[in-house]
Amino acid sequence: MRRVGGVVRPPGDKSISHRVLMLAALARGTSELSGLLTGDDVKSSARVLRQLGAEISRISESGVRISSSRLLAPSSRLNCGNSGTTARLILGILAGRPGSATVTGDASLRRRPMRRVTEPLKQMGARIQELGDGLPLTIHGGELRGLEYRSPVASAQVKSAILFAALTGKVPVTIREPYRSRDHTERLLAHLGLGIHERNGAIVFEPSHSIIPSFQLSVAGDPSSAAFLVAAAVLAEEGELLIENVGVNPTRIGFLVVLERMGAHVERLNLRDEGGEPVADLLVRPAALKGTEVTAAEIPTLVDEVPILAVLASRARGSTVFREVGELRVKESNRLELIAANLRAVGARAEARGNDLHVEGTEQPPRGKVDTAKDHRLAMAFAVLGTVPGADVHLSERKSVAISYPGFFRDLKRCFAS
Ligand code: S3P
Repeated sequence: MRRVGGVVRPPGDKSISHRVLMLAALARGTSELSGLLTGDDVKSSARVLRQLGAEISRISESGVRISSSRLLAPSSRLNCGNSGTTARLILGILAGRPGSATVTGDASLRRRPMRRVTEPLKQMGARIQELGDGLPLTIHGGELRGLEYRSPVASAQVKSAILFAALTGKVPVTIREPYRSRDHTERLLAHLGLGIHERNGAIVFEPSHSIIPSFQLSVAGDPSSAAFLVAAAVLAEEGELLIENVGVNPTRIGFLVVLERMGAHVERLNLRDEGGEPVADLLVRPAALKGTEVTAAEIPTLVDEVPILAVLASRARGSTVFREVGELRVKESNRLELIAANLRAVGARAEARGNDLHVEGTEQPPRGKVDTAKDHRLAMAFAVLGTVPGADVHLSERKSVAISYPGFFRDLKRCFAS
């Protein structure tokens, strides 16, 4: 019997880690952050902020000190590595301050769309030289004007870039999105008392202070990383797993909502607040799953969890459909095609039809080779599938997990050690 047990702690929330580093670099004085993700994406944000003159101690979970007086024009290109959040949010910051900077990234990031961010920033008055819809590009920041923006995509990165431009440019913005995306930037700005509120379903930010105060904050565990551990426990045959210190912000936990509909129950214990974010411990037990329909409105609340949810759907009774997941084509890899192709490669039935993803459940043990395309979430999702009794799943590589969950394989092993 495959038995799950023990206690694990996922690493710090990736989205929040980027945002607090950036806000601390904009704050006056020295800020202290604990619980930060030590993954490569967050190190990319730290590297870029250091190039802009911020002093940041070594990125560690126990504590990071950040101070800066004024962000400077960088002397070389800002390389954002694999991190879309670093690239898009830093463009927002750069838009509202004088000087020029060229932003680039690794081969995967250079392919990802940037116009969704450069369009509204240009409307605010930033001058941007771009070759196509991607990186590298050069931004000339300076005086901005306010913006009322209806975003065509439900993207927290687009929303946050505009909010950061408003912050550095000291201009008001109103943002509407088709569905509510993760709201960590809004919560942090509110936590720091910087003049953000909601009006008739729109986000209204009227930067109220010219100085951002330095702050101390502890970052909770990432629900997107915890999702892999939850899934491993659900797929086990007996036992229970306690996952401590997980962010349960409603804009992030669509995964738990859908899992509940599929027949698994995840108990939330010890609910508390950490820096304006709800946090809990999760208690998970194995469960028999049934297929479901994941609606377009739910997608922003679980956008990074589609790979692991699709893996779970391949072990459920019946079929599952994910509606309107076209955005997955422009993540770290073409996740929409690769989820389907890799599920087929291990013997399940899955297919992308238009912008929908269809997955059929099977009881056959998964066996075959998986191409992760160096995408951390594909690697982790299929590693979890490899824990199913009788499975024989070979990943093309495992190193990419360092992007968001450096200790993933150690923690996964620990879940089955008791
Ligand atoms: C993120 C937002 C999401 C998500 C990404 C992190 C963020 O992207 O997929 O991993 O930190 O704002 P989009 O906002 O582009 O959907």
